[in-house]
Amino acid sequence: MSPHTIDENHLHADPGIEHEPLHHAVPISAAGATPMQRAKVETIFEKGAAGRRAFQCPATDVPVRDDLLPEHLRRREQPRLPQVSEPELVRHYVNLSKRNFDLDSGFYPLGSCTMKHNPRLHERVTALPGHARLHPLQDPSRAQGALELMHNLERALGEVAGLPHVSLQPSAGSHGELAGLLLTRAYHEDRGEHRHKILTPDTAHGTNPATVTMAGYEVVKVGTNDDGGVDIEDLKTKITDDIACLMLTNPNTLGIFDPNIQEIAKLVHSVGATLYYDGANLNAVMGRTRPGDMGFDIVHYNLHKTFTQPHGGGGPGSGPIAVSDRISPYLPSPVITRRDTAEGPVFDLVEDREKSIGKLRGFQGNYGCFVRSYAYICSLGSEGLQDASETAVLNANYLLARLKREGIGEYLPLAFGERCMHEFVLDGSVMKKELGIRTLDLAKRLLDHGFHPPTVYFPLLVDEALLVEPTETETKETLDAFADAIAAILREAKDDPEIARNAPYTTPVRRLDEAGAAKRPVIRQAMA
Ligand SMILES: Cc1ncc(COP(=O)(O)O)c(C=O)c1O
Repeated sequence: MSPHTIDENHLHADPGIEHEPLHHAVPISAAGATPMQRAKVETIFEKGAAGRRAFQCPATDVPVRDDLLPEHLRRREQPRLPQVSEPELVRHYVNLSKRNFDLDSGFYPLGSCTMKHNPRLHERVTALPGHARLHPLQDPSRAQGALELMHNLERALGEVAGLPHVSLQPSAGSHGELAGLLLTRAYHEDRGEHRHKILTPDTAHGTNPATVTMAGYEVVKVGTNDDGGVDIEDLKTKITDDIACLMLTNPNTLGIFDPNIQEIAKLVHSVGATLYYDGANLNAVMGRTRPGDMGFDIVHYNLHKTFTQPHGGGGPGSGPIAVSDRISPYLPSPVITRRDTAEGPVFDLVEDREKSIGKLRGFQGNYGCFVRSYAYICSLGSEGLQDASETAVLNANYLLARLKREGIGEYLPLAFGERCMHEFVLDGSVMKKELGIRTLDLAKRLLDHGFHPPTVYFPLLVDEALLVEPTETETKETLDAFADAIAAILREAKDDPEIARNAPYTTPVRRLDEAGAAKRPVIRQAMA
């Protein structure tokens, strides 16, 4: 098929490409094969014309004061803002959004990210004026409803984690990690101990060691055993009394639940260290088991993964933490309190706490995330949350079973174990050796089939890793279609690996120099 006949952006649709093989001998036009590829993308600053407006302010109905800013702080020139009409403005951003892959139009099995459906009901309740228009500086006495919601969310999250004290402040999982390590330090120092090292397994997400460094600790790596869990013998050699904490996620990023978790907790506590639970994988166990019951002292949740706050594209997120009694005196301030009176419960924010690590951010956190997650918890109830995690595990195992079939399994074997929790890691090294395509090529070719690729090259200990997390909100038909697409790409690579090596063909932009984009970003844009 000539690439010039691809005249639509087929992203998220069935491109039918596997029926009409694209031969690598046919050069793809440098000018682009699809209208989106050909289109010159302009920034909003390059559009419009002088004097054009999307909005006119009404004339002021209060006296104009011209003397409020000192002369030396006043602008000499108008700010260089875009000057566009409302239709130009709307089209600009709608068209930009069409160039993105999004969860609302396609399967997004990005491992370790839990890209589950975000129910629309949550958007509706979050947009209610009482939530959306509440000012963060409102006096607590006039924000009782919001404080009650936050207090109830804390109680519900505490129940899910099996730990009684919760702070909603952190804005992301990694921010929760930082909070957890600051709490760990406060706890040890309060007992007169100055510990300097934190253990992280080699399967850990990159934010774990990064947080350790940011909190001023030294990272000590712990190995992984043949079953994909913590190497207990290695842990025993490293668990000394200068260790402040072990950070762990269970199930880990290989999608494996560590059956030795109680022994691990015992070892960590035997030297007085804390056990930190990276809750990014909570979607596998919520309602079934609790980190607090496994022996963890501090937990973070990613509301933007497990509890349906939308994510991707940079935020806003929310990474609350839960802690045990002994860590609670150090929790960030303010804390929300509830006092029962004859007129009903009264909620307040208490700032003045002697041992607190202080404030982690402005205001109380990303309130819209709290409303969405609370709506999720209320609409599912405890049985629904358990059902969600069980279905997430079932879906992952169904997809894994499909991918073990002939035509796929021999090229993309499971890296560890036989079954998985909510996600699994495939080893792409056989595919690379036998078919001459890398995990990156497979990932890019999946885009032509309308699927967002799984996470690639993570966790680092698996060569050519492909980390797949389907989540509970996908149907069997979607999982089957994804498995069929992988089989088709591998079949195609057997005949001509160049096709995958040059993919994607149908996306708004073709293969990017991702390292160059990260290392040499072009961040200045000339004005029109
Ligand atoms: C296992 C794991 N831990 C921690 C994080 C960090 O969470 P966040 O992106 O909310 O900072 C992630 C994020 O993907 C993760 O997958």
